[in-house]
Amino acid sequence: MDSDYFFNKATKQRKPSVLREIANKIFKMSKGSINLAGGFPDVQTFPFQEFSFKLRTGEHVRLADKELAVALQYLPTLGYGNLLTKLKEIQNRFHGPQDWNAKTILITCGAQQGLAYAFEMILERGDPVIIAEPAFELVLNSLKPFEPEYISIAQDSMGVIIEDIENILSTRRKHGWSMPKVIYINPTGSNPTGIVMPNDRRRELYRLACEYNIIILEDDPYFFLNFQKENPISFLSMDTESRVIRVDSFSKIMSPGMRLGYVTGSTEFVLKMEMFVQNSILHVSSLSQMVAYKLLTTWNDQGFDAHVARIKEFYRQKRDCMMRAVAKHLGELAECCEPAGGMFLWLKIDGLQDTKRLVTENCLEKHVIFAPGFSFGSDHQKPSQYVRVSYSVASPEDIDRGISLLAVAIREELLMR
Ligand SMILES: Cc1ncc(COP(=O)(O)O)c(C=O)c1O
Repeated sequence: MDSDYFFNKATKQRKPSVLREIANKIFKMSKGSINLAGGFPDVQTFPFQEFSFKLRTGEHVRLADKELAVALQYLPTLGYGNLLTKLKEIQNRFHGPQDWNAKTILITCGAQQGLAYAFEMILERGDPVIIAEPAFELVLNSLKPFEPEYISIAQDSMGVIIEDIENILSTRRKHGWSMPKVIYINPTGSNPTGIVMPNDRRRELYRLACEYNIIILEDDPYFFLNFQKENPISFLSMDTESRVIRVDSFSKIMSPGMRLGYVTGSTEFVLKMEMFVQNSILHVSSLSQMVAYKLLTTWNDQGFDAHVARIKEFYRQKRDCMMRAVAKHLGELAECCEPAGGMFLWLKIDGLQDTKRLVTENCLEKHVIFAPGFSFGSDHQKPSQYVRVSYSVASPEDIDRGISLLAVAIREELLMR
């Protein structure tokens, strides 16, 4: 695959920072070498002596001496080496053995940064881009400055409709229209629909991406929050052509405040994205990276799997609670598919063509907050019949009360039509 085809003009002009390249050499310096190059402050001047934290699983973790120095000092832009090694193990375990000569991981400030930089690397103003709609609003927002031609693909209860994508792509090719270079997809426990795209559709989508030379931008922060027995097959795991840029996040399984995500993809793509990080934030917080590393090594695979199983069960129970409240209060008023993963329920309100007033006025007056459906579309002016309902943080009592208030608000709106 010719990576150059996917880089926009600005990306082609980006060059790595000489100073950061020297910094990378400092990290690899043999003992006894004299460092008179770096602009690093001396750790002896930092006010911190020690950090320690206790895990919910009971283990005490201490950061001192050399590890503390790493946690407080500048790091290579790709990330803390030991954490990168751990992340490679995670990717090998969940997405099949990867060729780490051809692929690279870049640690980012949450998944959001990885997604934004992927678009910045690829898109020119006005380029076409394939988006499964509805889509996560912040992703749509990072696309906006490019004024892209949105090729919006509708979804059924199992995600994007492959035939629609195929028809669009073959028509564009037949007419010689400009072809999209990227498909954005959030395949597991999608935000806002809660859909987990079945494996056969994923394979079909990958086949199309290969046939039409398109990158799949796989945004998968809810991968570990799928409620099925088996984890779905990721696009990364089926990627024989290095055309998948996979974006993972620790936000949903560790903590969003740590702002840790990671991009896995072909070395050529990831090293370009590294330059975006280099030029903006130098690298992601060393302390966050060290805390994640210590957590993963304290737990090992077993501890990680047990944690993931626990939170999966936690959100599955919340989902069930939400479904009970919906059945109890909404009856004929709304339709939805049971979320197969993630944190969200995508409710279609029958009889209302636009849920904007329902959500932004009526429900707010009743002190219950939902996300309006229109905000998950590429065109915010387009009315939506949907409401996104989150079951992640509300208590069972609040879920029940919130949905009963929604029912009251819908009935009022229906009377006002
Ligand atoms: C689909 C999707 N992508 C990306 C993100 C951003 O995640 P992060 O906190 O890792 O930046 C979110 C956060 O809610 C999300 O739902």
